[in-house]
Amino acid sequence: MATIITIAQQKGGSGKTTFTAHVATELARRGHRVALLDVDPQGSLGRWFMTRYERTSGLKGDITFSTSSAWGVTFECSKYQDDYDFILIDTPPKIDSDLKPALRIADLVVVPVSASEVDLWATEGVLELAAREGKRPLVVLNRARAGTKLSGKIRAALSGLEADTVETVIGQRVAYAEALGQGQGACEYPGAKAASDEMTALTDEVLARLDR
Ligand SMILES: Nc1ncnc2c1ncn2[C@@H]1O[C@H](COP(=O)(O)OP(=O)(O)OP(=O)(O)O)[C@@H](O)[C@H]1O
Ligand SMILES: [Mg+2]
Repeated sequence: MATIITIAQQKGGSGKTTFTAHVATELARRGHRVALLDVDPQGSLGRWFMTRYERTSGLKGDITFSTSSAWGVTFECSKYQDDYDFILIDTPPKIDSDLKPALRIADLVVVPVSASEVDLWATEGVLELAAREGKRPLVVLNRARAGTKLSGKIRAALSGLEADTVETVIGQRVAYAEALGQGQGACEYPGAKAASDEMTALTDEVLARLDR
């Protein structure tokens, strides 16, 4: 049975697709079979995947991809349940009842929050919706600048939310964006040691939370 992780946050640009692609490649590097479902009509994850697919001539079957409607995720997941270890569902930047199936089916809901107050304010909506589906999300602080007052403040504020927060803080690193543009994950991208180490630590924490 595949473990299902849904990545959700109504604030655009918080790092949903970034988390999905980099953690997917890290899971694949560890030998897990990973299926990606893109519910976002923007299709960023699909562009990333197609770039990846072209680079590797389709030879690397470690990660598979499909798009899905918001209401169709349950059926789409059923296709992957038996043959994959993880299904990661990337969702669009809006929170409404359409998101319910993706939250309901998740073994874990991950909520990336960029290190700004505006992003923090936007987070309550998804936490409430997740709570209604009986889920306690895992919040990931993204785009943090080490040592800045703002990052420290947001990090402290996260502890007051109805969610758990990962210890690993994701820094603002150009390697994350560059690797995505090449269809790669941080763990595969040359010279991205710091980003790769962060994704290793983050993935360890996600797996620990899932008890895997
Ligand atoms: N930690 C980071 N360091 C540097 N760039 C980042 C980081 N996280 C995200 N980005 C960049 O910020 C932009 C938005 O990130 P991303 O697409 O992952 O957000 P999203 O939540 O999926 O957005 P949307 O809501 O539009 O789907 C992208 O260009 C991405 O490369
Ligand atoms: Mg996205």
